[in-house]
Amino acid sequence: MRWLAALLVLLAAAAPRAELLDFSADEIARIVRHGPWPPTVAADPSNRVSGKQDAIGLGRALFFDARLSPDKAFACVSCHDPDKAWSDGRATSMGRTALPRNAPSLLDVRQRRWFGWDGGHDNLWSMSLRPILDAREIGGSTAGIADLVRTDRNLSACYARAFGREPGAVEAEALAIDAAKALAAFQETLTSPRTPFDDFRDALARGDKAEAAKLPVAAQRGVRLFVGRGNCAFCHLGPAFTNGEFHSIGIPFFVAGGADGGRHSGIRTLRESRLTLLGSWNDDPVRADGIATRHVDPQHRNFGEFRVPSLRMAARSAPYMHNGSLATLADVVRHYARFDPERLHGDGEAILKPLGLDDAEIDDLVAFLESLSAEPPPTDRRACG
Ligand code: HEC
Ligand code: HEC
Repeated sequence: MRWLAALLVLLAAAAPRAELLDFSADEIARIVRHGPWPPTVAADPSNRVSGKQDAIGLGRALFFDARLSPDKAFACVSCHDPDKAWSDGRATSMGRTALPRNAPSLLDVRQRRWFGWDGGHDNLWSMSLRPILDAREIGGSTAGIADLVRTDRNLSACYARAFGREPGAVEAEALAIDAAKALAAFQETLTSPRTPFDDFRDALARGDKAEAAKLPVAAQRGVRLFVGRGNCAFCHLGPAFTNGEFHSIGIPFFVAGGADGGRHSGIRTLRESRLTLLGSWNDDPVRADGIATRHVDPQHRNFGEFRVPSLRMAARSAPYMHNGSLATLADVVRHYARFDPERLHGDGEAILKPLGLDDAEIDDLVAFLESLSAEPPPTDRRACG
């Protein structure tokens, strides 16, 4: 039996040693705030077809349909590819012309409060109509959308079921906004999966040390930095790892021909739009969600501020930042580690300080960020009908 004992010793040495760092009660409380996952989300009151199966089917069909563009060259999926976490893998997107910004992942989009890197939209349906009409993106028109939904037999039957009226009887702008609401209903179903971090977080919450110890120790050291000395959780807060607000972290925002005004231009877009929660296309008679939009006012400090992105599935949606200027998660962490406060414009962010992380700590933070991703469920591409 000596060989058996020797084999057991060998196996024990080969298996990664499960170990749990000595997290303090305070650290555990900070970590537990990043869950549970998935959260429960309610239907969107501003969209009367939110959560309705027929509308989701119609939205899914439209999302993959290049007939929205006059020359059938672009669909939403051209820049939001399910195999790239619903992003496009490019630094900045390429539509009919080059766009100045990176295409964000659409996962968990139902949980956002502001849409786009600059928060130029306060609801998902207006954010969904914009790329169809934007000459740089799909380059379509309200008349084109209406024509497609009225003349395609499948789409028009789907529309009638989802909205309870025949598309032929609906005026073009109203029909295009309905199509955008169906696109929104579909995108609300795109949620990111549970990850190794979530198992760790739940195990810590219920005091199950053996289960928590399954997260690789490097990722555990990374999460300790994330909620502690790195101060990342100041902005990347809660289950979706974002406070939903706008900050500057010193990413240069110059673009060809000028500067990307970030949140400053987003607020201007909001104020000029008829399609916000304050307008008559909001299906919620109370319009309760519009309050924040009424109070936004562009300030000088908003220049160069961008929305704090979620970090879930980030390992699958490279490259990073509003302009895609950082290629890998290690580049992102190095940006924070070597951060130079002098480079912040205007009022800057007093919260960001040089972190002085060494290479091993940078690796640990990256290991933690990677633990926020997992294999997504297979993509449902069924057409409506
Ligand atoms: C040519 C590439 C391109 C196409 C086509 C495109 N998008 Fe986008 N999408 C982008 C880029 C770039 C952004 C970031 C825009 C910004 O911040 O100003 C974006 C942002 C978004 C957002 C905001 C996500 C968030 O987290 O705030 C949504 C929602 C969205 N797109 C949905 C759609 C839908 C629906 C379609 C099809 C009707 C579509 N997109 C077509 C490139 C594209
Ligand atoms: C002051 C708020 C703030 C703090 C603190 C902060 N971040 Fe960020 N983070 C942001 C903003 C804002 C962006 C987007 C900036 C842009 O695109 O210009 C961002 C982007 C990122 C991205 C890129 C995500 C993507 O999809 O492009 C990662 C990864 C990230 N942060 C991780 C971290 C880590 C790790 C820390 C701690 C070392 C941290 N952040 C600290 C605000 C913050």
